[in-house]
Amino acid sequence: MRTLILSILLLLSSHSYASSGHELESATIDLSNKASLQRGAKYFVNYCLSCHSAKQLRYSRMAQDLDIAPELVELNLMFTGEKIFDGMTISMRAKDAEKWFGVNPPDLSLIARSRGPDWLYTYLKSFYIDEERPFGVDNTLFPKVGMPHVLADLQGLQRAVYKDVETAGGGVKRVIDHLEIAEPGRMTEREYDKAMDDLVNFMTYMGEPAKMERQRLGWKVLVFILLMLGIFYLLKKEYWKDIH
Ligand code: HEC
Repeated sequence: MRTLILSILLLLSSHSYASSGHELESATIDLSNKASLQRGAKYFVNYCLSCHSAKQLRYSRMAQDLDIAPELVELNLMFTGEKIFDGMTISMRAKDAEKWFGVNPPDLSLIARSRGPDWLYTYLKSFYIDEERPFGVDNTLFPKVGMPHVLADLQGLQRAVYKDVETAGGGVKRVIDHLEIAEPGRMTEREYDKAMDDLVNFMTYMGEPAKMERQRLGWKVLVFILLMLGIFYLLKKEYWKDIH
């Protein structure tokens, strides 16, 4: 009963995200694109894993699914002395995190499932300069966000361009029209979009590594069923051939 109530609550909350009115940009998700997943893993480990864990994904599992040799995973993707069979944990303590950010950075294992890939993609592109916020940035999709723009060296910093809209009461309200690059980063806009596709692709994989296995298995099961169908059909013909 409790799980039922919980899942209903979850459903309701994801609905309210969807209807928040912010248009989402769509991410290109392709779980069979290993090169993209590998690049995404690198971004994730380098830019996110310092604050967010992904406890449900083991390094060994990732090595296998993404076709990376375990030695290379240890060399390039593991920095804090974990073992290959460990999940992706972090060394920051929850208490410190709360002191620094006001909130605890959540575990991201299942984030692509709760928020959806398009939400993540849009979120990662929606940071803009706001001097009044503790880290100097805010986010159009997640107002008053407690996370700094950790990808600013890649994307650069965006500023908000405002426009005036009339309110129902006849007044005028200033709202954000769009964001534009104010200080360029190391990547062009297109390169950054592509990098975010890779990162979100990886986070989607992270939410369900079993999916790839299922897709592989799925084909075998289908072929098996078709084969059996053929055999049963022949058997049926054989049984009934003398009965008229
Ligand atoms: C310096 C620490 C830090 C780093 C590095 C960091 N984050 Fe965060 N992140 C946070 C904090 C703190 C929050 C909580 C924000 C809030 O609730 O206001 C957060 C929130 C989020 C959320 C929203 C979770 C939700 O649904 O409430 C997402 C998604 C996210 N981070 C993704 C990422 C990704 C992807 C990266 C790597 C590119 C990353 N973060 C790197 C600190 C960090």
